[in-house]
Amino acid sequence: MYLGLDVGTSGLRALLSDEGGNVIGVADASYGVSHPHTGWSEQDPQDWITACETAVAALRSAHPGALAQLRGIGLSGHMHGATLLDSDGKVLRPCILWNDTRSAAEAAVLDGTDGVRDLSGNIVFPGFTAPKLAWVKAHEPEIFQRIAKVLLPKDYVRYWLTGEFISDMSDSAGTSWLDVGARDWSSQLLEASGMRRDQMPELVEGSAPGGTLRDALRQDWGIRAAVVVAGGGGDNAVAACGAGCFREGEGFVSLGTSGVLLAAKGHYRPDPASAVHTFCHAVPQTWYQMGVILAATDCLNWLSRTLGQTPATLAERLPSRIEKPSSITFLPYLSGERTPHNDASIRASFVGLDIGDGPAEMTQAVMEGVAFALRDCLEALKGTQTDLTRLLAVGGGTQSPYWVETLATVLGIPLDLPDKGEFGAALGAARLAMAATGADLASVMTAPPTSHTIDPRPELAEAFDASYDRYRALYPKMKELMT
Ligand code: XUL
Repeated sequence: MYLGLDVGTSGLRALLSDEGGNVIGVADASYGVSHPHTGWSEQDPQDWITACETAVAALRSAHPGALAQLRGIGLSGHMHGATLLDSDGKVLRPCILWNDTRSAAEAAVLDGTDGVRDLSGNIVFPGFTAPKLAWVKAHEPEIFQRIAKVLLPKDYVRYWLTGEFISDMSDSAGTSWLDVGARDWSSQLLEASGMRRDQMPELVEGSAPGGTLRDALRQDWGIRAAVVVAGGGGDNAVAACGAGCFREGEGFVSLGTSGVLLAAKGHYRPDPASAVHTFCHAVPQTWYQMGVILAATDCLNWLSRTLGQTPATLAERLPSRIEKPSSITFLPYLSGERTPHNDASIRASFVGLDIGDGPAEMTQAVMEGVAFALRDCLEALKGTQTDLTRLLAVGGGTQSPYWVETLATVLGIPLDLPDKGEFGAALGAARLAMAATGADLASVMTAPPTSHTIDPRPELAEAFDASYDRYRALYPKMKELMT
């Protein structure tokens, strides 16, 4: 038996799989995010532990006997979070999360420091870990002085599980302290933000062993033999393991709260100027590149809140197939943007509203705007010789056939929709646990069965290209007006 633990932004998912990788059971436990000031986003690391205990207890009572045979645990987590520990292993302050923008100024300084983009392979985005530490150094110097270890969220859960300070390359690639090509901490990058190597955990590959479950927990959970904890990885890398994307040409597009277009890469070929993220994958000698947009289904959620209707009701106002592109252009920058603009201060707009337009027209424009933002990600990825001929489509937004058809047409790529079932980061984490206990990667990391494929509509491609050109032209103009 294998346990996959996915430390998500709004809750933890625990998934139990058998020796063949079949899902035996899943349990979820939620927690909150606090926003004590505008742009701040924090979590109490203890909440992850409580959620883990709750979810494991639920699995134990639903599947008595199964957990007793546990051989491996895999971990996945939201990336970039800074969990700061003192020399007794005590948490010094709430974890500063990936979507916290307080350190935009520190990020800009680090990003402009010689060698930083070259070594880390990425822009230093405000959500990344290093600028957060620079912010703590400037604003909470008494805490900064006491930092003995900096752990990413899933690695704090590992510390509780194993008592060891270990991370993996895929999650660590989002810190701006890792030499992503060499898959090791970089002394130069650490120095650039006043950090030391001894404050970093030891590194292992995501599919390699990264600790052993503490005896006390093993006994509490009624487990018979020793349990290996795999290196695990950042949520997107591990989700790619769950979706079977780890060879060149394999990828997925995710219409989740935020949006991601991810491609597995056999080579390290970064292109920070395009705001593409280039990170280590959770399997050896493999990387992945992705474009990240900060609001995908979040845009529809915002519209539904504003109009007092549920997102599903809004989506149902649209036909099941596209008729023509909207005459309204929506720029989906409700929370700023990462790819391709790296712009924390830009905000969203509707352009071209007509007096006759209502909820349906605005919904169509919102879905198109998100699709155009993901097309921006695809264009950025093309700049790194990424050739994607089909993609798996995942995330809550894929419930809307209209939205998926719009996305397929805007990207010009057929989108495969997985059958119902588990294929996300919790499954990917369980698969990494299997790999860490000796299973062969290629036979474990398979793609989920496809329920159906939604093809682009070639007869609409020209009209959508024209709408995309208008969308592209608007960002610089809005940027000018907003600064
Ligand atoms: C990736 C990123 C998010 C977080 C939260 O760079 O910021 O995907 O990992 O899910």
